[in-house]
Amino acid sequence: SRTLRLAVIPGDGIGQEVVAEGLKVLAAVLPADSKVETTEYDLGARRYHATGETLPDSVLEELKHNDAILLGAIGDPSVPSGVLERGLLLKLRFAFDHHVNLRPGKLFPGVSSPLAGEPQIDFVVVREGTEGPYVGNGGTLRTGTPEEIATEVSLNTAFGIERVVRDAFARAQARPRKKLTLVHKNNVLVHAGHLWTRIFNAVAAEFPEVSTDYLHVDAATIFFVTQPERFDVIVTDNLFGDILTDLAAAVTGGIGLAASGNINPSGAFPSMFEPVHGSAPDIAGQGKADPTATVLSVAMLLQHLGLVDEAARIESAVAADLAERIGKAPRSTSEVGDALAARVAG
Ligand code: IPM
Ligand code: MN
Repeated sequence: SRTLRLAVIPGDGIGQEVVAEGLKVLAAVLPADSKVETTEYDLGARRYHATGETLPDSVLEELKHNDAILLGAIGDPSVPSGVLERGLLLKLRFAFDHHVNLRPGKLFPGVSSPLAGEPQIDFVVVREGTEGPYVGNGGTLRTGTPEEIATEVSLNTAFGIERVVRDAFARAQARPRKKLTLVHKNNVLVHAGHLWTRIFNAVAAEFPEVSTDYLHVDAATIFFVTQPERFDVIVTDNLFGDILTDLAAAVTGGIGLAASGNINPSGAFPSMFEPVHGSAPDIAGQGKADPTATVLSVAMLLQHLGLVDEAARIESAVAADLAERIGKAPRSTSEVGDALAARVAG
């Protein structure tokens, strides 16, 4: 028997709706002798307007005492751009040292891709999660004048690169195709790019079974569209990974299906699982959001906690559900959740 302590941050917009379905499927898949104890945290636009807080230290402290965090979505047009993104979402990723941002790109059978033919897409992007241009290192000068200057300095440490590169090699090693692609822009961003390349090549020597290659990020976007089957595991920096994983979602059936995990591999802090999509305020509260990305994020959460069979059952349920969608009328958020819960239970 096992009790899973789960912190839940529904957040903004459709976050509430999709998280409810994720929890529904979680409850249905867990074995009878396992319990889940959820604590919900009211964070996001509502709290910011009410109290001015984005992520109080007391909440950050409480979150630590959980096995994992499930997050819906963060962001609202009523809050200035960047306040919740930096003050809540990125603060969580940085505080809990989520340096492995795992984002699978998988085209399930029967899901229509905008790409021609029926490409076989099954890769995973290992996006660095705690460095790069996301650290907020920069500033403005001569503000409000025509000579205004803004800088965003990308931070890349040997320590930070090596740990994520090593993680990506280990993941590639464990997959049948054993292939790892480094994506950067080392022909232009020579300082960071050369450090990434050097470390990547050094770690490669320790993984002789993994075949490697390198792509500039612009070329990688071409191959995502023209030859996505060439990818197995991809490792890249925080910003390139952000952009590439939206493209990955677009070619694998859309953002409604894209799951992610912000992983702290050491387990020193809880890892956090969230759909790649945002809060979609335009459809919030209408029961239109597809909860599948959140449900798949729950599967990643279970996988991370070692509940491998349960994770696999969720994936199979999603695969079966997606295969049956073809030609059918769209269902509501809770209808999809109910269908998935029924499949994992049965
Ligand atoms: C994502 C989002 C975030 C990111 C934003 C909201 C900070 O786009 O999870 O991909 O850039 O990482
Ligand atoms: Mn993004």
